[in-house]
Amino acid sequence: MQVITAHHKIQTHIQEAKTSGKTIGFVPTMGALHEGHASLVNYASKDCALVVVSIFVNPTQFNNASDLETYPRTLDADVAFLNALSKDIIIYAPSAKEVYGDNISSDEYNFGELENVMEGAHRPGHFDGVGTVLNKLFRQINPDRAYFGEKDFQQLAIVKRLVKKERLSVEIIGCPIYRENNGLAMSSRNARLTPKQLTVAPFIYKTLKEVKKRFHKDSASVLKDFVQRKFSEIESLELEYFEIANAQNLQPLSRKRSETKYRAFLAVYAGEVRLIDNIALN
Ligand code: PAJ
Repeated sequence: MQVITAHHKIQTHIQEAKTSGKTIGFVPTMGALHEGHASLVNYASKDCALVVVSIFVNPTQFNNASDLETYPRTLDADVAFLNALSKDIIIYAPSAKEVYGDNISSDEYNFGELENVMEGAHRPGHFDGVGTVLNKLFRQINPDRAYFGEKDFQQLAIVKRLVKKERLSVEIIGCPIYRENNGLAMSSRNARLTPKQLTVAPFIYKTLKEVKKRFHKDSASVLKDFVQRKFSEIESLELEYFEIANAQNLQPLSRKRSETKYRAFLAVYAGEVRLIDNIALN
């Protein structure tokens, strides 16, 4: 297990591994690691001879200063967590200066129709920040494959478009959402939930499953009303948005087509903590 903080060091290390024919798998994270991250690392380890996990709380993707401030930072525990998974992982834990140099700011991307809905609509500038940091990390690490969770389904779509736009040679692999036994999608933000909020939060996935069950017979607007009504009955959860969208272009469903794949997406506040989740509907 190696923890590298300097970008020139990681570049040299990876270049050597590539020269000796190793496939490089990359799992970018913001730390506060949990089993969801571990599942991505396991997919990467199966496919690739060398796995690099980055741990970097990216300042440019937070549209809310207090969210950035309170985001959990647990590097020592993260290193121990990864060490228990495999001794062969390289951890890249750079400072902001190593990633951004002296200019910590976002590039402006145009991700087209993908960025104007859901997370893009509710978190202005968020995907420019994600695109900027990943473009820099991809260029520093130069991986063959990079692994992303469907937990952040819109992010996964944005990353695929980023790779096309920037003509990067990395293959983007989407991995399924890893959940607690009670259905709650694992998230670094779950660490900020109170015990009471933790007992209520499984309601989110329960409602998504209910939507999936009704999808064959109900329209999007009936399902939206249903979800809004359900959440209005739960005092400690506040629904920010619920959307049913085309899984390819993420545009809201207006009229169902049998050959199109759809997903339901939502964002919910439990107190100050913002949680997102989604489910495949057909
Ligand atoms: P972070 O929230 O740490 O997530 C890192 C990766 O883990 C993302 O690809 C995310 O989708 C995946 N992930 C998180 N929870 C998961 C779960 N329950 N099941 C499966 N995968 C899960 O997403 C980010 O960081 C950042 O935006 C980043 C891509 C690192 C750019 O800064």
